[in-house]
Amino acid sequence: MHTFIKDLSNKVGEEVTIKGWLNNKRSSGKIAFLEIRDGSGFAQAVAVKDSLPAEVWQGIEKLTQESSLEVTGKVTKHPKQEGVFELQVCKCAGVQVASEYPISKKDHGPEFLMDNRHLWLRSKKQWAILRIRDTVETAINEYLHSQNFIRTDSPIFTPNACEGTTTLFPVPYFDLGTAYLSQSGQLYIEAAIASVGRCYDFGPVFRAEKSTTKRHLTEFWMMDAEAAFVEHDENLKIQEGLVKAIVKKCLENCQQEFSALERDTVALKKMLDKPFSHYFYDEAIKKLNKLGSDIKYGEDLGNDDEGLLTKDSDVPVFIEKWPKSIKSFYMKIDPENSDRVLNDDLIGIEGAGELIGGSQREDDYNLLLERIRHEGLSEKDYEWYLDLRKYGSVPHSGFGIGVERVVRWISGAEHIRECIPFPRTINRLRP
Ligand code: 4AD
Ligand code: MG
Repeated sequence: MHTFIKDLSNKVGEEVTIKGWLNNKRSSGKIAFLEIRDGSGFAQAVAVKDSLPAEVWQGIEKLTQESSLEVTGKVTKHPKQEGVFELQVCKCAGVQVASEYPISKKDHGPEFLMDNRHLWLRSKKQWAILRIRDTVETAINEYLHSQNFIRTDSPIFTPNACEGTTTLFPVPYFDLGTAYLSQSGQLYIEAAIASVGRCYDFGPVFRAEKSTTKRHLTEFWMMDAEAAFVEHDENLKIQEGLVKAIVKKCLENCQQEFSALERDTVALKKMLDKPFSHYFYDEAIKKLNKLGSDIKYGEDLGNDDEGLLTKDSDVPVFIEKWPKSIKSFYMKIDPENSDRVLNDDLIGIEGAGELIGGSQREDDYNLLLERIRHEGLSEKDYEWYLDLRKYGSVPHSGFGIGVERVVRWISGAEHIRECIPFPRTINRLRP
């Protein structure tokens, strides 16, 4: 049995074996410092030529960066750094001596790194982002279960659009014609709430948008949540609770990841104690115009607008009740203003942009049918969805959160392509 690097602190004075990869090596010819990673963490192993059999020392000299290896030695406390543990090597065996590694310590351009994504994933920063992503996903699952949601999941091959018909990826589907890769599982979990009350799906969704921003992928992971008997205001409370639960868990579990990323977490800590801000869409437009944006009434917010609106905010900002003309057919009309819908976008701080899109859903059969016809959608395609308004319709609401958007914000990554193991964008399909 070998030991994980993260557990070395409990093994001081013992002889252990760790198995992993050589991240870096420095050698004076008499003493070698091996920086080793095993996935659970990073540790330094110290090899002293004079205290090792000649063949062990020669083996160490041959090890190149990224060689896989097994090292045995006594665990000691680092002489100067608190909380850091080292291995005093007595045995060291290469598993495979790596060829010359294409990613060196010098700066590489993003295209080169993305071409080598299969290797780049090993770098300390990418390792940290992968681990933050895992923590974000775990936090989402835990929070939703604590709020009585269960996971039901939605199909990826779908016969029709959820979020408008312009951004779909078509796939030939046997004798049944064309299937489309799902843009959101929302419509399906709306069906499942009548079975389980509150539910969520979690998986990849696809958008054929020709966006080249730092926040758009063509394949990304979304969590859609849906709850029966929840109306607009409570929907926002659930979203706020979720975002805070994610940040809290990352702050608790990801300190070494944040330090690997040199991520200052003051802003994350600060937002936990305060309620999120709210603007109605109309107010947001007025405020943006005052701040110098030329956005017009009835337009969607651009990246710059989102940035402007949140630049002095310590907390994420909800923009509520948008014009129905620019939002999806399934959103419930605001009873107080028939041009508006009961929806929200949640805009993150620190330039995170839109993190969540949510709404109360139209639960009246006739109104929903009218919206479907008005949008020119096929009534037949949405027959099953309309059925949900015929057999025990209830007020209900839900939202979708983009996992990579959240990971980008929390990790402080510059570009969303670093926030998913193998990104798919308009100009990248490999590796
Ligand atoms: O706002 P959106 O389009 O909402 C929906 O799809 C709803 N059906 C969700 C629901 O109510 N269940 O997408 C939700 C979130 C956005 O707020 C954003 O975080 C993320 O998905 N997102 C993207 N992330 C990466 N790349 C893209 N191209 C994205 N488009 C949306
Ligand atoms: Mg949206």
